[in-house]
Amino acid sequence: MPKLSDLLVPAPLRKTPKPGEAGVPKTPAPQNLKDEPPEQQTEYGRLGEKALEAPTEALAWVDQRMAASGFLTGMLFRKVPKGTNWFYTLGSATLIAFIVQAITGVFLAMFYTPSTTQAYTSIAHINNDVFLGQFVHGMHKWGASVMVILIFLHMGRTFFFGAYKYPRELNWVIGVVLLILTMTMAFTGYLLPFDQRSYWASIVGININGTGPIVGPYLSDFLRAGPEVGATTLSRFYAIHMLLLPGAIIALIGAHLYLVVKLGTTAPPWTKADKPRVAEPTTNLEAGASGNGYRPNGAPTIAGVQVDAHHGDGTAPA
Ligand code: HEM
Repeated sequence: MPKLSDLLVPAPLRKTPKPGEAGVPKTPAPQNLKDEPPEQQTEYGRLGEKALEAPTEALAWVDQRMAASGFLTGMLFRKVPKGTNWFYTLGSATLIAFIVQAITGVFLAMFYTPSTTQAYTSIAHINNDVFLGQFVHGMHKWGASVMVILIFLHMGRTFFFGAYKYPRELNWVIGVVLLILTMTMAFTGYLLPFDQRSYWASIVGININGTGPIVGPYLSDFLRAGPEVGATTLSRFYAIHMLLLPGAIIALIGAHLYLVVKLGTTAPPWTKADKPRVAEPTTNLEAGASGNGYRPNGAPTIAGVQVDAHHGDGTAPA
């Protein structure tokens, strides 16, 4: 199976395949073509081959104009530190949970009515009458809890692996904002069915926000959108839940992943740091000197001056 990165190269620019690759026969060409004529490809065979190449050609056409394959190859084939394990999948799992929420949310929005008199009945309609409605609603409802659990596990992983340290502090801060937005997403979504439970739970949540110092009362006033929890609160929660927060989360996930790709991931804390490969000026080399600048019992030196040892992944030692 050819690599995706090779497939993205347009046909005229591809390297000549070696014998045994990409349809080139392994054995040498027959000496006597009269007695052993090469097998002719049928018209259907040629068409089939062209059809198989068509998606690749289409991708290559787009890529020639967008130059996106460099970014994709860098993103998909990047190196990860030794010792990378299942805990490193929690970030991607959170991302998948978010994508599931976004897709199921779009379908729910097609049938949901954000009005105090119709919200509950529109959700009953989704559950009872709409094709796969109960399934999609269930995925969205349970998916919210799954995303909250996953985001906390992912945060725990990055904390216990020391991934918040230099140079990844900014990614940690972006993560904290993502956590707040995800919790707000869960909170604003809870009111939408507008049943007894969601109504009273939202009043409790809004009042808890009101007890915060300085901004607390302003925040609870903003959320309530009026003297009582009612129609204006529901409209406000719905707008925040399906427009404001998803937009902000998508933008921040973009920045978060950009930094993950740019900085790479942190090696697990129990893996040993790579020996730094420090070049030593040739003028300082004596006959028989090891020449790699690394002293087994101390920090490496450059021309006799001690320099700090660094983790192989570019982070400072803990
Ligand atoms: C919507 C929420 C989030 C998504 C989709 C997300 C996604 C990811 C992904 C895919 C990675 C790379 C793979 C991995 O380490 O798991 C990552 C790394 C990271 N995330 Fe998140 N994340 C989210 C929330 C958070 C939160 C809440 C924090 C912390 C407060 C955080 C902090 C970090 C840090 C520091 C890294 C770098 C890890 C390293 O260098 O090893 N993220 N994130």
